[in-house]
Amino acid sequence: MKIEFPKDFLWGVATSSCQIEGSANIDGKVDSVWDTYADAGKCLKGDTPRVACDHYHRYKEDVALMKELGVKVYRFSICWPRVISDIKGTVNEKGLEFYSNLVDELIAAGIEPWITLFHWDLPQYLQDAFGGFLSRDIVGYFQYYTEVMVKALGDRVKHWMPINEPDNATTFSYGFPWMPPGPVVGEKKTANSIHHINLCHGIAVKTIKELCPDAKVGCAFDCAAYYPREDCDDNWALIEQEWKYENGYFLDPMFFGKYPDCSFRNWHDGYPDIEHGDMELLNHPIDFLGINQYYGYVLKIDGRGHNGYNFYVREHNDLPNSCMGITPDMFYYLLKYLHRHYPIKELYVTENGNAWTTDTEEEQLKDDYRIDFIKMHLSSVRKAMDEGYFVNGYFHWSFIDNFEWGSGYKWKFGLVHLGEDLKREPKKSFWWYKDLIKNNSFEKDREYSNNENPQLIFWNKK
Ligand code: NOJ
Repeated sequence: MKIEFPKDFLWGVATSSCQIEGSANIDGKVDSVWDTYADAGKCLKGDTPRVACDHYHRYKEDVALMKELGVKVYRFSICWPRVISDIKGTVNEKGLEFYSNLVDELIAAGIEPWITLFHWDLPQYLQDAFGGFLSRDIVGYFQYYTEVMVKALGDRVKHWMPINEPDNATTFSYGFPWMPPGPVVGEKKTANSIHHINLCHGIAVKTIKELCPDAKVGCAFDCAAYYPREDCDDNWALIEQEWKYENGYFLDPMFFGKYPDCSFRNWHDGYPDIEHGDMELLNHPIDFLGINQYYGYVLKIDGRGHNGYNFYVREHNDLPNSCMGITPDMFYYLLKYLHRHYPIKELYVTENGNAWTTDTEEEQLKDDYRIDFIKMHLSSVRKAMDEGYFVNGYFHWSFIDNFEWGSGYKWKFGLVHLGEDLKREPKKSFWWYKDLIKNNSFEKDREYSNNENPQLIFWNKK
């Protein structure tokens, strides 16, 4: 069966600065919180992002590969501590020059640059000075950084996303000990960090629009994607309440200028400190919703689990060693939910992908499992589109194997293999994705079932 996409559908790939650039201390770049964290040996096997894919020096080769792939758009992020050197706001011209050259190279290759301003590599000096997102001071610094970038690149870059996955940089950094900078601070301060990152988003949207009125601004948000084990309307209606609770912290302020009543409901003293004018700022209209999606949660309602649900992630039986759960129908429910609840103008999948560890390099290069994964998820996107829930584009994560945060270089998400010597080698999926882009369609060769191998996780484990 042929799965086709609209003619103007945007196909792309995505990366982030810390994960690919390397050159951690070259040409005036100062440390980010991830450099500090990795240097302290906290990532798997002591891996660090100091060299990563050396994209800083090899960006021309990478852009040439993207041109070969045929992508229309490339989403990448700016490394804040590469362009602003200190708390006084000193601009590092060398850093700006790198991004300006990259943008020119992309445009010359016929690829439109889409920029994320913050993909977790917070300058260490801001963490040292006031604890990063724990303090409201971060908002002024983020506004200044946004201004610098839009003045430097706004003549050529027309799509901006201020923040990547805000919950990772706040809830998972201050509420749980999972990511830097930490420390774990308790509910009240974590709630404030969420509010502060939302304010950073709002001030950046306003700033970009003022400086560059023809730019489009959106976000790159990872939704908690829940859906029912048995598809019936009653189950779906109940499960939607759970979506609201999990996603409302970030999406509701953006779209409606308020936190949903259920937000922070279990946080005891955890409601954020909101000042006059904050909610108007958070509500600055966005042009597109970007969603980073990797897997969903299948909820079975039987009254025994969290909020009356049982909670599952389903693994796909046929796929080796996936690092995240795989839930074939995720996009169908996600898109349905988002369109029903938010006034969306344009919607992009700003990230989707998966990683596998394999025994041999050959298995890495012959990655049929990745092709199957993409087919499975795009089929789900198409199913939602067939019911009228529009999607305007898809960015595969990732262009190249890279530094996967705390997991170091173990998990490989790329369409391009990164050899020991940093040699780039397109995988089988690269050539498959190229054909998909060229034809705007692919052949779906099997059905994907949500009922394969349910794997129980979390609180219902028995
Ligand atoms: C989402 C993050 O934005 C990205 O940086 C990360 O590599 C992928 N998830 C995979 O874990």
